[in-house]
Amino acid sequence: MASNLRIQLDRTAKLSLSEQIRMSISRAIESGLLAPGTRLPSWLDLAAQLGVARGTVQAAYERLSDAQMIETFRAGGTRVAPRPRTAGGQPEAPRLGAFMQSYQEMNAGPAIFQLGIPAFEGLPEKLFARARSSNLLKTGGLSSLLYPDPRGEVELRREIAGYLSIARNLHCYPEQVFITSGYISGLGLALRVLGLDGKKAWMEEPGFMVTRKGLELARLNIVPVPVDAEGIDVGYGIENAADAALVVVTPGQQAPLGSTLSLRRRLQLLEWAASSDAWIIEDDYLSELQLQGRPAPALASLDEGKRVIHIGSFSKTISPGLRLGFIVAPTDLANAFAEVAATLAPAPSPVVQLATARFMRDGHYVRRVRRLKRLYSGQQDALCEQLRIRDAEWVNAGLAVLLRLPDGAPDVQIVREAMTMGMAPSPLSAWFAAPSLALPGLLLGVATAPAHHVAASCRQLFKIIDRYR
Ligand SMILES: Cc1ncc(COP(=O)(O)O)c(C=O)c1O
Repeated sequence: MASNLRIQLDRTAKLSLSEQIRMSISRAIESGLLAPGTRLPSWLDLAAQLGVARGTVQAAYERLSDAQMIETFRAGGTRVAPRPRTAGGQPEAPRLGAFMQSYQEMNAGPAIFQLGIPAFEGLPEKLFARARSSNLLKTGGLSSLLYPDPRGEVELRREIAGYLSIARNLHCYPEQVFITSGYISGLGLALRVLGLDGKKAWMEEPGFMVTRKGLELARLNIVPVPVDAEGIDVGYGIENAADAALVVVTPGQQAPLGSTLSLRRRLQLLEWAASSDAWIIEDDYLSELQLQGRPAPALASLDEGKRVIHIGSFSKTISPGLRLGFIVAPTDLANAFAEVAATLAPAPSPVVQLATARFMRDGHYVRRVRRLKRLYSGQQDALCEQLRIRDAEWVNAGLAVLLRLPDGAPDVQIVREAMTMGMAPSPLSAWFAAPSLALPGLLLGVATAPAHHVAASCRQLFKIIDRYR
C-alpha cells in the first residue's frame, strides 16, 4: 500500500482539488516514490483521508488511468502501472559529436570571409514579403486545404525548367523537376532513390564535407579521387575504383578549389558511367554564379545516357535561409523520385515555393543573380588587390579566394583565432578526407567581404598568419 503518499491540498489555490490530487500522485510516480505495482488507496479511503468528495478523487484517478499511469483491477484495487526501467536519474541533455560541432562552427556567423552565404546586404525583400503575406494561400482558394504535390508546386517546377534551359543549357520537362529543401535534402532524396548501400562512391578530394558525411551515412564506401585544374581526375577514379556505383561532383566550380571540369573529363566521366551503369550526382550549387568568364553548361546537358542526377540550390543565388533547391531526374527515374518524394521526402512548404516561382516569373531572380555577380566581382578585385600588396600566394576559387599557406601551417588554428575577431575564412585542410594529403590554406569567401572592410580585415588576418610563420 502507498504508505509514503503525501498529498497536501491548497484549498485557496485556483487549481481544482482533483487536479492537485492528480498532480501529486503523478509526481510521486515519476520520481519513483511510488513504484510500479504499488497499491493506491481506494477513492473512498483517500476522499475520507483528504476531506474531499468521492467524485473529486474519482476524477483524479480517471485522468491518471487515461494517462496510463495507474491501472484498476476488479479485485486487486488500483495500482501504479508498469513503467520503463531507467538507469536512474534524469538523462543528460544530448551532446553533439565532432562532425556536428564542426558543422555548427562552419555555419556560425555571419562573419567576414565566411563561405557559403550571400552578401550581407540586399536580401530579396520582395520575395520574403510575398512569402510572409497570406495572399498566396488566398489565391490558392480551397486548393490550399488539399495536400500539395509532393514533387513540388508545378508553377515553380515550370519556372525552374525554363530557367535551366536558358542559364544551364539543360533542357528538361517540369515532370523531371523535384523541389527540395536545398541541395542537401536533394542528395538525401537521390540516395534513397538509388539505394546503393555498400557500393563504392567517388568523392572529390578535397571536397564538401557535408556530402562526404551524407554518403557515409547512406552506407556508401567512399573512394577519394584527387582534383586538379581540370576538376576531378576521372582517370584516377577508373584506375582505382572502376566498379564504383556513384560519383558526386561539382563540375561547374569545384568545391572548394573552383576548377571547372574540362570537356575532355566530362566526356570521359559520362562514358565511364554509361558503360558501367554508374550514377553521377551533379552538385550545381553555384549555378551560373561564376565570377570569371562564362559559366560552363551543366554536366547533365551532355548526358545522353541519362546517368546524371542534377541538383541545384537557391542557397547561393537567393539565401540558404530559404531552404530551397531542386533535382532534375533522368526521365527513367522520374517515377521512382516521385514515389520517394510522396512517401519519405516531400517538397517543402508551397508558400515559399509559390513566392519563389513569382519572384522568378517577374524577372527578379535573373536580375538578382546579375547584381550579385557584379557585386562579388568588385569585392573579389578589392580582396585580390590587398593580397597582391602583401605578396601573398593566392588563386581564385569559385566564390572564394584561396590563400595558400606554407606547408605545415596550422590553418585550423589560424581560423579559430580569426573567428574571435569577427572573420570566418574556411581552413582548406578541413576539406580533405585524408589528413596525410591535406594542404593548408585559407578560403576567403568573397560574398561576405564588403570592399570597404577588406583592407582592415586583411591587416588583422595577416597579423595572425604572421605569428605562425
Ligand atoms: C559544395 C556545396 N554544395 C551544396 C551547397 C548548398 O547546399 P544547400 O542547398 O543545402 O544549402 C553548398 C553550400 O555551402 C556547398 O558548398
